[in-house]
Amino acid sequence: MSMSQTDPFIDAARDLLGERGLATDPDLVEPWLTDWRGRYTGKARALASPTSTAEVAALVRLCSRHSVPIVPQGGNSGMSGGATPDGSGDSIVISLRRMNAVRNFDIEGRQITCDAGVVLQTLHESVEAEGLRFPLTLGGKGSATVGGLISTNAGGTQVLRYGTMRAQVLGVEAVLADGSIFDSLTPLKKDNRGFDLKQLLIGSEGTLGIVTGATLRLLPAVAERAVLWAGLGDLRDARKLLLHAERVAGDALEGFEVVPRHSLESVLAFNSQARAPLQGTHEWNALIELTASSSGAQKLAELGQNLLESAMTQGLIEDATIAANEGQADAFWAIRDEISLAERAIGPAKQHDISVPVAEMAEFVVATSPKVEKAFPGTTAVAYGHLGDGNVHFHVLAPKGVDAQEWENGEGKAISAFVHDEVTAWGGSISAEHGIGQMKRDELGRLADPVHLAILRQVKQALDPNGLLNPGKLVP
Ligand code: MLT
Ligand code: ZN
Repeated sequence: MSMSQTDPFIDAARDLLGERGLATDPDLVEPWLTDWRGRYTGKARALASPTSTAEVAALVRLCSRHSVPIVPQGGNSGMSGGATPDGSGDSIVISLRRMNAVRNFDIEGRQITCDAGVVLQTLHESVEAEGLRFPLTLGGKGSATVGGLISTNAGGTQVLRYGTMRAQVLGVEAVLADGSIFDSLTPLKKDNRGFDLKQLLIGSEGTLGIVTGATLRLLPAVAERAVLWAGLGDLRDARKLLLHAERVAGDALEGFEVVPRHSLESVLAFNSQARAPLQGTHEWNALIELTASSSGAQKLAELGQNLLESAMTQGLIEDATIAANEGQADAFWAIRDEISLAERAIGPAKQHDISVPVAEMAEFVVATSPKVEKAFPGTTAVAYGHLGDGNVHFHVLAPKGVDAQEWENGEGKAISAFVHDEVTAWGGSISAEHGIGQMKRDELGRLADPVHLAILRQVKQALDPNGLLNPGKLVP
């Protein structure tokens, strides 16, 4: 059905949410119908923007009565098309962005309970003002919301020390497919009443329920940090450097990211303000962050200096520098955080968000990149990101001059299957942190363990028997 003012469902939804809460005007709806990468564009009956959990629940009951599929959406900065409706125009997009209140901030207990629509950067700023810290961060922090981060179990650049979103979540509130409200916003530290049901919702991409609120753990603010940039000739040395950093810096090691020459050059071309941290050219770069929550305790700059000098003596790195001040530290991180934007600007590419066992990731990239480029002449394989987590973003850039659409649906598909087969053969995952969405659903169906798949389908059937929650996503 196309957008219509006389649709009884739309009339009832408008009665429920008011004019501001329900948009059918294409100018207002269309910006939310395309995913961040611009790969998927769908259609929707309307964009609903409820302001409370009770409104979400009532809307879901209404959708259930009218059999209207629901696509929940946070910041619309997902990487796998998980928040984009299909082309039928049957669905309603439910945006949680207007639900952006902090409900309770327990500073002493280091916990915050907030609505799903709170933006990550706002969360960072709110808790920093009280000397605390929410440790998960990623390039899309200006748009990503708490609900979206939970629904996708987001990762980012601090997973090495603090884990993914799952590790930060103490409680979840979600509206289920029948409109009932699952509430585990408990401040209990210990609770062993059987299954930990909130874990089902974390990473379920809106297919089991709509996350409307969460209680999150917080940490003491960073008092001191040292941000290091090293140039290397070989990715296998980056793996050795990581082990060396773990030995030398211990608990102070917070982040370890790799940036290939291609990605650094892409960022420098994309952003005229960006400056290369080192003078020479290096095939690989490692960005290392050391932090401490009490100032002066670990003399981090000295620790960083020792780390780099000993790495140089061992021949692991070609050159290195330590950010001289916070501005420079931010500038180093800005290079890392801009890679996906800069790579996107180059042209068509197939992105793969993959993991293999941490110890094997460098070998995987070294072995697989030339294999892909040989099998698909004219392509360029670029791997960057979270080497410390055994997770890289393995992009394969299209040969110059191809038609983007044609390439994506033809050779591009074959490339993804090739990469995913390799990952599977290495015992890895085809989605380390970006989720399955609509982008990898068929590949999950093709490659996942049958027992795993059967459980996925049974859980989906149990919680959403009519299949109205985010259809076409995640569950093959
Ligand atoms: C990153 O690590 O930069 C993000 O996950 C985004 C991306 O894959 O491009
Ligand atoms: Zn990433």
